[in-house]
Amino acid sequence: MSRIFLLIFAGLALCAGQAMAETLRIGVIGAGNVGGTLGTLWAKAGHSVMFSSRHPEQLGDLAKAAGPNARAGSVDEAAAWGEVIVLSVPYGAMPALAEQLKGKLDGKVVLSTSNPFSGRDGETGRKALAQGVALADRHYLPGVHLVRAFNAIGYAAMKDQSGQGKAIPVFADDAQARALGARLVHDAGFIPVLLPLARADQGLPGGPLSGAWNEAELKRQLDR
Ligand SMILES: NC(=O)c1ccc[n+]([C@@H]2O[C@H](COP(=O)([O-])OP(=O)(O)OC[C@H]3O[C@@H](n4cnc5c(N)ncnc54)[C@H](OP(=O)(O)O)[C@@H]3O)[C@@H](O)[C@H]2O)c1
Repeated sequence: MSRIFLLIFAGLALCAGQAMAETLRIGVIGAGNVGGTLGTLWAKAGHSVMFSSRHPEQLGDLAKAAGPNARAGSVDEAAAWGEVIVLSVPYGAMPALAEQLKGKLDGKVVLSTSNPFSGRDGETGRKALAQGVALADRHYLPGVHLVRAFNAIGYAAMKDQSGQGKAIPVFADDAQARALGARLVHDAGFIPVLLPLARADQGLPGGPLSGAWNEAELKRQLDR
């Protein structure tokens, strides 16, 4: 086997090894409706979760309700502790968070549920919508393995485990992001459908891939 093939093979094995670790340390930045719901699902599925926000002292009850695998911490603590990071904040927070987290998430998989809205998120939201949300994420989060998922399903439907059988688009480009993104979606009780980041705008609220579909319905939507 040529050296180049061996290197590719070793890289894939490494990615698969990371993705297949038995449990993950998940740092949740933004522990509101979505971050709180998803973090609780992952903690109950056996992963270790740290919920964080600008007010970690308010997250004790959430961590307690999520069970022994969950705790609360500051944003910096969750960023350092998590081997995978879930970012679930109003998009208007992205400039400040990018500054706060500069260099701290490099090389980590970051799954963002965060959506830009022109009203709620002001100029930051309008800019992200104009340039495309994945490009905007890359601007704020250079150096991470980016995943976008859970962007256009309401948090109540995430919570409702009768949602099992529902498919969630997972927008990611590199192998590590695709593997961990798919795993997080699976472990929250949903079926991951992998798509390139170039399609991430289609998964925003109101987009053609938004809503709660089963796998066959979502695949039909993709072909339209
Ligand atoms: N709601 C839904 O059903 C839904 C579904 C899919 C996607 N989304 C998207 O997911 C994101 C989160 O939505 P949500 O409904 O969970 O919002 P939310 O309930 O308002 O929660 C937002 C969380 O972000 C934290 N936060 C805000 N600014 C922050 C900052 N600068 N640094 C750290 N933490 C910060 C807030 O806590 P502190 O204020 O204490 O910091 C809070 O914990 C949004 O972009 C939303 O559009 C929402």
